This record gives sequence, structure tokens and C-alpha cells, in this order.
Amino acid sequence: MRAIVLRPNTADPAYANAPLEEVPKPELVGDRDVLVRLGAAALNHRDVWIRHGAYPTPGHGSILAADGAGIVEDVKHAEDEGLIGNQVLINCSINWDSAPEGPEIPEKYGLLGYAPLPGTLAEYIAIDRKYIHAIPEHLSVLEGAAIPLASLTAWRALFSRGEAKAGDRVLITGIGGGVALFALQFAVAAGIEVYVTSSSDAKIAKAVELGAKGGVNYREATWPVALKELLKKNRPDSKPEIDTIVDGAASGVDAMISTLRLGGRVVNYGVTSSRTDPSSAKAPSYAQIFFRQADWRGTTMGSAREFRDCLAFIEKHKLKPIIADVFQGLENAEKAFEKMKNGSQFGKLVVQIAPSQ
Ligand SMILES: NC(=O)c1ccc[n+]([C@@H]2O[C@H](COP(=O)([O-])OP(=O)(O)OC[C@H]3O[C@@H](n4cnc5c(N)ncnc54)[C@H](OP(=O)(O)O)[C@@H]3O)[C@@H](O)[C@H]2O)c1
Repeated sequence: MRAIVLRPNTADPAYANAPLEEVPKPELVGDRDVLVRLGAAALNHRDVWIRHGAYPTPGHGSILAADGAGIVEDVKHAEDEGLIGNQVLINCSINWDSAPEGPEIPEKYGLLGYAPLPGTLAEYIAIDRKYIHAIPEHLSVLEGAAIPLASLTAWRALFSRGEAKAGDRVLITGIGGGVALFALQFAVAAGIEVYVTSSSDAKIAKAVELGAKGGVNYREATWPVALKELLKKNRPDSKPEIDTIVDGAASGVDAMISTLRLGGRVVNYGVTSSRTDPSSAKAPSYAQIFFRQADWRGTTMGSAREFRDCLAFIEKHKLKPIIADVFQGLENAEKAFEKMKNGSQFGKLVVQIAPSQ
């Protein structure tokens, strides 16, 4: 089969190659493995970080990408034959069942798209049946592929770790991002008042169309003041403060904390700014944290239980992932990587692998 494989780049060691190669079709090894013919895969920023060598081992030879959806074509166990022909999406968060604090055995935890685990920028993937889920009925295979990693990260950040609930005011930073957009959609559907930050006024306007109450441009140093003005305007009768911040950039942390209510929380799932602009990723001043009685929480993807809850919520509210662009065929995957690298997208970048799905 054909797949996008991580390979060293002698011309530029700081950014590995990702050529399209012919590789062996995966075999059904595990007792409950199923073979999925992938119809589409989606990128996450992690895939770019992997090419930049941000993961502990070089991983060369890995099939890239964690997100995918397709059709079950074969199964190992006779009891699973009923799955053949089903349209499914794949939970890429491997070996985390239900523990709220984190994977049960951290050393066994992993994500698809990095060796020794398989990836989704390929024609086929073999995976234990417990990781496949029916694509919600209102969604296509393309849309299903855009869901797993970013939606699960957003779900855990907003609800499990952020404990956000209807009526709260939540600030989501860097709204152009895949995780941030799912957090926005979930929060709006849950009756939460959402504010966003972005480098782009056009992206803020799109977020407002999706239900955000407003947003500010984080490139302006005075953005916390502008945010407070918005909060005052929308709720003149209460203090202009945020209950929970959902952040994947870790940039301007003191400014973020200045917008929190006393005892509010920051839920952080990423450090985009320290990778792209190290000078912007200063550590928070401890005084800011303790005077605000702030609760600083780290979060990552999530458990199988959280993924099921997240999918049920998507189904119930008929949410559709925001797709920025679809690239036709594995031969165009590099264009998706380029777009992810320059950050111009608003939503997920999807590679259609099998046009018939
Ligand atoms: N811990 C985990 O399990 C986990 C899971 C998923 C993602 N992550 C991490 O979370 C981050 C986002 O992932 P993603 O896939 O959603 O990435 P993405 O789609 O590429 O989005 C990145 C977004 O970051 C925003 N951004 C960049 N610099 C910023 C800054 N200085 N302040 C605020 N926002 C800034 C940009 O928003 P605008 O375009 O609006 O300016 C950009 O769209 C990545 O670092 C990723 O590695 C971690």
C-alpha cells in the first residue's frame, strides 16, 4: 500500500522529509484487529512538530498522522465480521481506558502516527476494534477523519479539566487552531459564554459567526484591556472576568491570568508559542498566580471513556468539524503540511485518501 513515511532530511536536518512510499499492507496481528481502508486522514500540529524532531526518538520509518476514518474491510475474529463495510473513525489515543487523572500505565500510552504505532496517512491501518467508532450519522468519512485528536483534547480541556458549565465565561486562545475550534463548538453547544483570541481579526469574526461572544487580537499588547471592555459590554452587571481559560500556546501568560476571576483556572494543552516564538513564552510570574488564587492545570488528549462522551455530544448537538481545506490524494499531503506550518488555516486540514468514500 502507499503511505506517507517519516524520513531523515540531509538537506535540512531540522525538518524531516515525509515522502509517499510503497510499504507493506498491514496484517491483522491482534486477536481483535480490524483492517480499515482509510478514506481520509487529518493533520494536527503534532505532525509538524514530529517532522521538526520534537519527539524523543527520531521515529524515522513512522507512518505519519493520528486522525483517520474509513471503511472496515477485514477482521481477524469471526465475531467481528458484522463490522465489515461499516464507516468508522479511529480513536488515536492508545492505551488509556478511563482513569480521570491520566493513562493507567503511562509507559504503555501512545498516539497513532509515530512508531511503533501505525499512522493514518496511508491506504490501510490495522487496529484493535476497541479503537473504532461508528461515524456519527450526520457526518461524512471526511468529516469523521477531522474529529479524533483535536476533539478529544478540547473535550478533556474544557469539561474534564476545565469543569466549564453553562453560564461560565471561557476564554479560548488562538482560535484558528484545530483544538481551539472544537473547544469553541463544544462550549457554545453547552451554553457557555465564549471569548477568543487570535492573531487575525478575520478569524475572530468567523468565531463570532460560530457563536463566540467576541474576541481580541493577541498581537495587541493591550488585549486584556480590550477583552475586559467586551466583557463589561456583554454583562454590565457583573465583574469583567473569565472563569476558565483554555490555552494551547502558553504565550503572554501574565496577560492571560490578569483576565481571570479570583480562583479561576487556566487549562493548558500546548506550548505552540515556545516552539514558534520562544521570546513570547515567558514563564508566568508566581505572584500573578497566587494573588489571583489561580488554578493552573495541565491536560493532554483523553481516555476512551472521554472519547465516547465526546462523540455522543457531537452526535447529540449535530456538530460538524470546521474543515479549512481538503487535499486530494496522499500525493498532496505535503501541501497540507505546508499550510499547517504557516498557520493560515481556520480549522482542520484533511487529506482525502480514497475519493470513493
Ligand atoms: N497535549 C496534547 O495532548 C495536545 C493535543 C493536541 C494539541 N496539542 C498542542 O496544542 C497546540 C495546538 O494544536 P493544534 O493542532 O490545534 O494546532 P493548530 O491547528 O496548528 O493551531 C495552532 C494555533 O495556535 C495559535 N497561536 C499561535 N501562536 C499563538 C500565540 N502566541 N498566542 C495564542 N495563540 C497562538 C494560532 O491561532 P490563530 O491562528 O488564531 O492566531 C494557531 O492557529 C500545538 O502546540 C499542539 O502540539 C497538544
